[in-house]
Amino acid sequence: MYTRADYETAAEIVRVQVDVAPRIGLILGSGLGPLADRVEDATIIQVHDIPKWPQPTVEGHVGRLVIGHLEKKPVLVLQGRVHFYEGHAIQAVAFPIRVMQMLGIHTLIVTNAAGGINPSFKAGELMVINDHVNFLGMAGHNPLIGVNDERLGVRFPSMTRAYDRTLRELALKIASEGGEKVQQGVYACVAGPSFESPAEVRMLRTLGIDAVGMSTVPEVIVALHGGMRVLGISTITNVAIDSLDTAFDTTHEEVLMMGKSVVPRLTALLQGVLKELPDR
Ligand code: HPA
Repeated sequence: MYTRADYETAAEIVRVQVDVAPRIGLILGSGLGPLADRVEDATIIQVHDIPKWPQPTVEGHVGRLVIGHLEKKPVLVLQGRVHFYEGHAIQAVAFPIRVMQMLGIHTLIVTNAAGGINPSFKAGELMVINDHVNFLGMAGHNPLIGVNDERLGVRFPSMTRAYDRTLRELALKIASEGGEKVQQGVYACVAGPSFESPAEVRMLRTLGIDAVGMSTVPEVIVALHGGMRVLGISTITNVAIDSLDTAFDTTHEEVLMMGKSVVPRLTALLQGVLKELPDR
């Protein structure tokens, strides 16, 4: 378990190294890291230099913070999140969000790689997340479990408007202006690391889920607890396999490759969104 002092210590290490006060946090999912290369006046901080920061172990996730400007907006980009399946406690998964909160970040943009559950989704499409199902939380791994520090947020935060409507509408507007077809839907968070079985894929579809992945929701819950606005965008890196009668398999390589191939389109979308956000 962490205390507010742990978050504050980490935040101070960031603060003393940068001139900008970041106001927008971005978390980049599997294969989506290259967006960080666009940050101007970048200060790069390795996360292993920050006490208690959980260290990523997965290919495609380097652990660093890139702080500077994107579209003239002060941003902190986390390249390399950690996941519950790596063996981290769920509170560790959300540690970076608390540090963002201490730094005064008010808007969080999260991206992830996800499997398409909605039968109309195709690999390579983007989905604006409009709601979630937290299987991890329902199984007892909610990052807010434990004593609640009222200075960080309320005991029982609402999830009714988790994904900010204004930000969602902005993302859809930017996408349509750019001629990009973007899906919208419900993202389900599962623990992983095994991919879903065909029976699980059919179950998720029955439950009204559009995309499935192994991240994002713990971070979003803590961001909301901390008073941030959230925009979530999934890259549908693969169509989840719902039948036993197939020669195909979902692989991490496929997820990374498809993640990389959408980077230019995702970058254009995020840049368009950032351009329209307030300066402070
Ligand atoms: N399932 C779970 N997580 C994922 C998938 C998937 O099919 N693709 C990318 N992340």
